[in-house]
Amino acid sequence: MDQTAVRRASHLVVRPIEPDDADRLVAFHEQLSRETTYYRFFSAHPHLTPAEIERFTHVDHHEREALVVLDADEIVAVARLEQVDVGRAEVAFVVRDDHQNHGLGHVLLGLLAERAREQGINELVAETLPNNVRMLAVFRHAGFPEQARFGDGVMNISLELPDDSTEDDMAQRTIQQLDRDECFDRLAQARLGRAAVTLSGVPHVVPVNYAVFDGAIVFRSGAGTKFHAALLSQPMSFEVDHFDEDAASGWSVLVSGRSHLVVDPAEIARIDALPLEALDPSEKHAVVRVEADLVSGRAIA
Ligand SMILES: CC(C)(COP(=O)(O)OP(=O)(O)OC[C@H]1O[C@@H](n2cnc3c(N)ncnc32)[C@H](O)[C@@H]1OP(=O)(O)O)[C@@H](O)C(=O)NCCC(=O)NCCS
Repeated sequence: MDQTAVRRASHLVVRPIEPDDADRLVAFHEQLSRETTYYRFFSAHPHLTPAEIERFTHVDHHEREALVVLDADEIVAVARLEQVDVGRAEVAFVVRDDHQNHGLGHVLLGLLAERAREQGINELVAETLPNNVRMLAVFRHAGFPEQARFGDGVMNISLELPDDSTEDDMAQRTIQQLDRDECFDRLAQARLGRAAVTLSGVPHVVPVNYAVFDGAIVFRSGAGTKFHAALLSQPMSFEVDHFDEDAASGWSVLVSGRSHLVVDPAEIARIDALPLEALDPSEKHAVVRVEADLVSGRAIA
């Protein structure tokens, strides 16, 4: 990657960190929630020390690299790469809370992997807390062969980077963030999605047939199950994706929001008119409606 290159994704700008980013970095860190700093530093860490500010803003862009994402003049994400052995580098990420879950983690990992390959690195490693589902999802879905090992209370992740020929193929792809309307256009094209809730602290994901209905997602859920009860008592996530291996293109959309039972007979009658069969017709079903409070998506082409 050209050190001076500035990459634009919608209104956000990604560039290598520079020494005069110190004030921006301090302001960024002070805005992070306790949970976010805990996931990053594995301890409460409300303020950066002067030594950390110096070290984090002074990188050689060779064995140590750091990328910052800027929204106007504010840093909203930082990604680091540090060579720890021949051919191996450690990565770390932090995204400001209000920008999390919008695809920045994926984009930054892709850019660091590109940078690492240019430096002859063929393995990225990271330590993350075992309940850090977002970081683990970013690694798992990056498209690189992954090994995950649990030890001393942390997950040790290792990603094998592709050789140059595969990298060339990947470099030609572009990732586009989808706006809300574009996400709903994609949602309207598919029928099978995945509904996710947490049951006793463990994520549960269930495939369901769904339809887009009045700006919301509707599907049939087996009444009486623990999953059904969890759906109605907590915010949930709903994911739909499509990938064409031959064309190496695809998209994914994530909807998060509150869900509730549809009880109005007129609304049920309109939903019954939709092509919306339950995946398991032997169960007794109720119609669940998910209000799309947060919608994000990406397309790869
Ligand atoms: C971890 C972090 C860097 C990821 O960045 P991000 O921009 O939020 O990540 P993205 O939006 O690119 O991806 C988030 C992934 O988590 C998934 N996800 C979100 N909530 C989830 C949940 N409750 N259960 C399972 N997966 C979830 C999303 O689906 C997405 O995965 P996918 O798109 O591949 O399916 C960011 O959330 C962060 O800064 N967290 C706090 C600091 C931290 O944990 N740093 C890492 C230290 S190693």
